[in-house]
Amino acid sequence: MSEETPRPPRRKRYSGKNPRRFEDKYKEHDPARYGDTVAKVLASGKTPAGSHIPILVDESLAALQLQPGMIGVDATLGYGGHALRLLEAIAPSGKLIGLDLDPLELPKTAARLAAAGYGSDHFEAVRSNYAGIAKVLAERNLPEVDFIFADLGCSSMQFDDPARGFSFKSAGPLDMRMNPDRGLSAADWLAKVSAEKLEIALVDHSDEPRAETLALALAGKSFANTLALAQAIRESIRVSDDDERELTVRRVFQAVRIAVNEEFTALDAFLRVLPKCLKPGGRVAVLTFHSGEDRRVKQAMKTGIRDGLFSEMSEGTISAGPEERRLNPRSSSAKLRWATRA
Ligand SMILES: C[S@@+](CC[C@H](N)C(=O)[O-])C[C@H]1O[C@@H](n2cnc3c(N)ncnc32)[C@H](O)[C@@H]1O
Repeated sequence: MSEETPRPPRRKRYSGKNPRRFEDKYKEHDPARYGDTVAKVLASGKTPAGSHIPILVDESLAALQLQPGMIGVDATLGYGGHALRLLEAIAPSGKLIGLDLDPLELPKTAARLAAAGYGSDHFEAVRSNYAGIAKVLAERNLPEVDFIFADLGCSSMQFDDPARGFSFKSAGPLDMRMNPDRGLSAADWLAKVSAEKLEIALVDHSDEPRAETLALALAGKSFANTLALAQAIRESIRVSDDDERELTVRRVFQAVRIAVNEEFTALDAFLRVLPKCLKPGGRVAVLTFHSGEDRRVKQAMKTGIRDGLFSEMSEGTISAGPEERRLNPRSSSAKLRWATRA
């Protein structure tokens, strides 16, 4: 009797020309094999699925004043786009520690950087919240480093994968956790939150002008998935302008995401310990994407100057130029600030 080997399940063929679903974008998931497809996606101003285009890279490197042999931290490793350029700038004897709390993307990025030639002498990926940066450094007998870089918020890999629940453009579980092993999903958070707390989150996290109406409509409710929440948001406001309605959905998703991931608690803790993690003359550069983040970074740097912890900080913010904005629309809201340890 012959034993039949079960055939592996086949991917369902996508019949159209322009895949709309994340899973159908199989070519972009394997950029090494499908370079031409990825190049076309990039040229059209979109981010290839499963990757992330780093923002204000040259400006960030210039702000950090990197030199070969320096030791530093990329506090938000993500896809490793900035990390790769940081590693190039500090080669051949420099060392970079990359932090990220995302257990799904971190191993992929660590493998990508190792394949690019950055072994353990030059690069270490650490699964940690950046609020714990001082502990990570102390554990490595490196209480102070030459530079620290942070590119706040979520990565394109997180936003674009419907299974992570960040996007209101495709159906997915209403999750939104960058670290799915910790805390409440967005669905559970919304089911438990009071209208008062949700209203505060909508104002603090995304400057939402219709916070009260939205909080009353959404707090304590259950939503089947991301699309159900998006639809409930649209139905709870009286707005005739389609763009404004979609902006409202975007702002509510942002506010809930920040709450679920306790992003401002982590950022405040990071900004508090940051100066003490830098050597005298060391530099920090932080990229922010909305006013709640930028306010905190600006205030922390100003307080650092006042208290003698920083000697210098950037005047105003550095933003992406028109070409970068065209090629990568996600860069439009980015603001870069830097400061020097006294
Ligand atoms: C905008 S992406 C960084 C992209 C990266 N610079 C690149 O070029 O690929 C932000 C990353 O920071 C991570 N992150 C967000 N909050 C964090 C925190 N509190 N601690 C550590 N990592 C965090 C996210 O998981 C995400 O991967």
